[in-house]
Amino acid sequence: MLFPFFAAAVFLVATVSANLRRYEYIKQFKIERPQKPQQVRYDPTWASLDTRPIPQWFDDAKFGIFLHWGVFSVPSYKGAWFWDFWKGPQPQLDVVQFMQANYRPDFTYADFASMFTAEFYDPNYWADIFSSAGAKYVVLTTKHHEGFCNWPSKYSWNWNAGDVGPKQDLVGNLANAVRQKGLAFGTYHSLFEFFNPLFLRDQANNFTTQDFVREKTMPELYELVNTYQPDIIWSDGEWMAPSSYWNSTNFLAWLYNDSPVKDKVVTNDRWGSETMCKHGGYYTCSDNFNPKTLQQHKFEDPTTVDKLAWTFRRNLKLEDVHTMEEIIAILAQVVSCGGNLLLNVGPTKEGTIPPVFEERLRQTGQWLSVNGEAIYATKPWTHQNDSATPDVWYTSTRADNGTVINVYAIVLTWPESSNLTLASPVTTASTTVTMLGYNTPFSWSPLPNSGLQIQIPAIPFNQLPSKWAWVFKLTGISN
Ligand SMILES: *[C@@H]1O[C@H](CO)[C@@H](O)[C@H](O)[C@H]1NC(C)=O
Ligand SMILES: *[C@@H]1O[C@H](CO)[C@@H](O)[C@H](O)[C@H]1NC(C)=O
Ligand SMILES: *[C@@H]1O[C@H](CO)[C@@H](O)[C@H](O)[C@H]1NC(C)=O
Ligand SMILES: *[C@@H]1O[C@H](CO)[C@@H](O)[C@H](O)[C@H]1NC(C)=O
Ligand SMILES: *[C@@H]1O[C@H](CO)[C@@H](O)[C@H](O)[C@H]1NC(C)=O
Repeated sequence: MLFPFFAAAVFLVATVSANLRRYEYIKQFKIERPQKPQQVRYDPTWASLDTRPIPQWFDDAKFGIFLHWGVFSVPSYKGAWFWDFWKGPQPQLDVVQFMQANYRPDFTYADFASMFTAEFYDPNYWADIFSSAGAKYVVLTTKHHEGFCNWPSKYSWNWNAGDVGPKQDLVGNLANAVRQKGLAFGTYHSLFEFFNPLFLRDQANNFTTQDFVREKTMPELYELVNTYQPDIIWSDGEWMAPSSYWNSTNFLAWLYNDSPVKDKVVTNDRWGSETMCKHGGYYTCSDNFNPKTLQQHKFEDPTTVDKLAWTFRRNLKLEDVHTMEEIIAILAQVVSCGGNLLLNVGPTKEGTIPPVFEERLRQTGQWLSVNGEAIYATKPWTHQNDSATPDVWYTSTRADNGTVINVYAIVLTWPESSNLTLASPVTTASTTVTMLGYNTPFSWSPLPNSGLQIQIPAIPFNQLPSKWAWVFKLTGISN
């Protein structure tokens, strides 16, 4: 009698713990995104706005491209903060000296604008790069802290790409090209501007006045939404003043209730000095946010291919550029923890994407063309990284009720022996192991406690499906 009782007890414990795990999963990933979005109206308060589910397309997309392009692409030195480093409250000596050494004494930042020529800008070619990269969305700086609008804005007289420099609508032309390739289009927009007199006056008034917001920031944001119907609004430049100064909650309530993009639009968390990592849509928390642990809220990691800047720099060195191994590692880590990767490159003032960036993007696409099954539309698994073998990151696909269907082990370092030890998966009699892009299943043996040892056959070099990381697909896993 003892044995059946014991077996029943084990079964009961296993069932209860499986249900608990399912409950935890549902708690983390389902409540935020109910199956049927209800037709609710949102109040202009964080308490109400924060209840809006993040549209599913964004969680499924996993990978987007970020572009920092503007007048700062003309000096193409130091980055998007060039003007502030030169003329701001705390000038940087090397930038001041760079200007003294290379430009006439009365040169102003505004003089750079006519040199922002974009004569080789081919939005269809850019869209081809991003689509080949396997990206599902593209986010362009429509206006960075310098205040220059990359679209012919009614609210930025003579400081926009229609009036000066490119003499064309950089935003609209890219939106059309990436959408033709089936990608979503997002607009980065900075709330504040370094030297706008209206902003400086509101700041001097301790933000008790809102003239800059009423006359510049908000009209611009409404204009962007109504003209380009962006799929993402990537807000930034929020930290100087609380969201009450920026009027952010009123804007977001309009965006979610009444705007032409109310059902599909996704926003981030940079809407006021108190909001980052707390309020808004998905969280970005910081630049290069790669937490390496499971997150409770949808996040996105903005990471730049040039480790030192978001914008193109003429003094870029090869050693400053993330390697393919690093890019794939960040993608695997971010996705396994529930995030998206927004990989940034800086185009040149002529409108080209430097070939080293183009190569990184196209090679990311090569990897995704074999291994995308382990990335797109996946869900975090029970474990994010393996408990015994370093550099192994997991993702999964799940049924609607949360039950795991496939587990993907993304192996960043080729195992030293012909055996790969994975300690975290709990195997069953029906467990199978394959490598994405390689047809023959691998044999495996259970480890004494839990987990498995996979026997990797001698794969001919020309049949190895990937160059930078390898994905082992496991089925019949019970955790
Ligand atoms: C802004 O705040 C500072 C410090 O609290 C104060 O000294 C200053 O008078 C205030 N300025 C205005 C315009 O209210
Ligand atoms: C803030 O938004 C509300 C609602 O759209 C509007 O009535 C108000 O004028 C806005 N205030 C500013 C400073 O933009
Ligand atoms: C991986 O998992 C182990 C626990 O199994 C943990 O101690 C470790 O910090 C994790 N993270 C990384 C980056 O290895
Ligand atoms: C969950 O869904 C899958 C696939 O639809 C099904 O096979 C499984 O029995 C379901 N499990 C539970 C506990 O409902
Ligand atoms: C790999 O695992 C198999 C089966 O467990 C074992 O016979 C073999 O010795 C292992 N090889 C290495 C290099 O550890």
